[in-house]
Amino acid sequence: DEPGRFEAELTAKPAIVRFAEGIDTPILAYNGEAPGPLIEVTEGDKVAIRFANRLFRWETTIHWHGMPVPADQDGNPMDPVLSGGERLYAFELPEGSAGSYWYHPHPHGRTAEQVYLGLAGAFIVKPRQDPIPAAYGDTPLFFTDLRLAADGLIPANTMADLMNGRVGDHVLVNGQKKPTLTLPAGSRRRFRLFNASNARFLHLTFGEAAMTLIGSDGGLLEAPVTGRRTIDLAPGERAEIVVAFDRPGRLVLRTEDVDHGWMGPGRPDMAAELMTVEVTADKAEPAPALPARLRSIADLGSPAVRRRFEFTETMSMGEGGMKMAFLINGTSFDMNRVDVVTKAGQTELWEVVNRADMDHPFHLHGTQFQVAETERDGRVSKAPYRAWKDTVNVARGETVRLLVRQDLPGPRMYHCHILEHEQLGMMGVAEVQ
Ligand code: C2O
Ligand code: CU
Ligand code: CU
Repeated sequence: DEPGRFEAELTAKPAIVRFAEGIDTPILAYNGEAPGPLIEVTEGDKVAIRFANRLFRWETTIHWHGMPVPADQDGNPMDPVLSGGERLYAFELPEGSAGSYWYHPHPHGRTAEQVYLGLAGAFIVKPRQDPIPAAYGDTPLFFTDLRLAADGLIPANTMADLMNGRVGDHVLVNGQKKPTLTLPAGSRRRFRLFNASNARFLHLTFGEAAMTLIGSDGGLLEAPVTGRRTIDLAPGERAEIVVAFDRPGRLVLRTEDVDHGWMGPGRPDMAAELMTVEVTADKAEPAPALPARLRSIADLGSPAVRRRFEFTETMSMGEGGMKMAFLINGTSFDMNRVDVVTKAGQTELWEVVNRADMDHPFHLHGTQFQVAETERDGRVSKAPYRAWKDTVNVARGETVRLLVRQDLPGPRMYHCHILEHEQLGMMGVAEVQ
């Protein structure tokens, strides 16, 4: 293919996989693979993806999570592809957009189910010149969360899942249960971490091996952050890290159990072993050091407008029993309503306030924002460094202030990325003019 163009086909369809010996599990998959095929392009590329919806009954869309694509190409719930239908998604990725994105369905009221049934994949935009040494490799680790019944079926959401978000029994890494990576001693490795689970908060650790954080949702940081023992990834978030595997031995990438505000009884232990790294006694070629500066990240300037978004949960008795509602500014999602009107090119301060009993990761479509500060119990902490983000956890009781600028016009969703909450209405529409 000629440089500067990327073409691909994606078909969403039912598939059968074997997670357990001899037992078939029906899933939904892009091109028969779960996760969907890894898409890798270079910034500046013109992307054309032909999409076919071969799901029985269900309409769907593909949303390009985190990418600056035109609103009418972004898989909004108001642009469904009907069952049996097709469409072309076409967009150009501007210079500076290199980062670790992902794609997943976003149909009205069905996103959570379509994602946990298998529809999600990584979408990597590479920079023209990568400051990270090629010798580090570039390994995506796409985390999904599987719940499997004894008969091999993936069970539907329960009441507890709708409240807390669905947490599965197995965290899969690139679709596999606890894979092993073998490396020679002295290797340095670059990993791209994607939390593509519906609701599991990841607290990742490599044990004694320290991690160097080099990137966030929207690409590289300005400078590496060394000596990290844990990396937190809320549902929807991504990070890039470099790990040095100095001595022979076995290291395990684990996620630790942390409570993010569980409603009701039966909070699962969320600790899990994700991947094993076997470091052999062979010696790796010495790799170049990580540069001290990775890139520069624009200063968004002072905000012209300040807006407030408040997350709340309510419980009420309805005909069918207890009914939970997940709201933003007291309202539930309505795709025919515009909640906020913003001006393209204008920097705004978005204050996201969590008045609910559990954490809610806030996500905005169509752009990358910067976290300015976080307030908790009246204490304000400024962000320690600049980073491009499209998803940020807003812990219960916390307020997170974001610098937001949208450059492309059209309707953009913002929502909690616990997909069951998004599905239950914790979402709004920002119309960019
Ligand atoms: Cu990844 Cu609207 O979401
Ligand atoms: Cu998104
Ligand atoms: Cu939520």
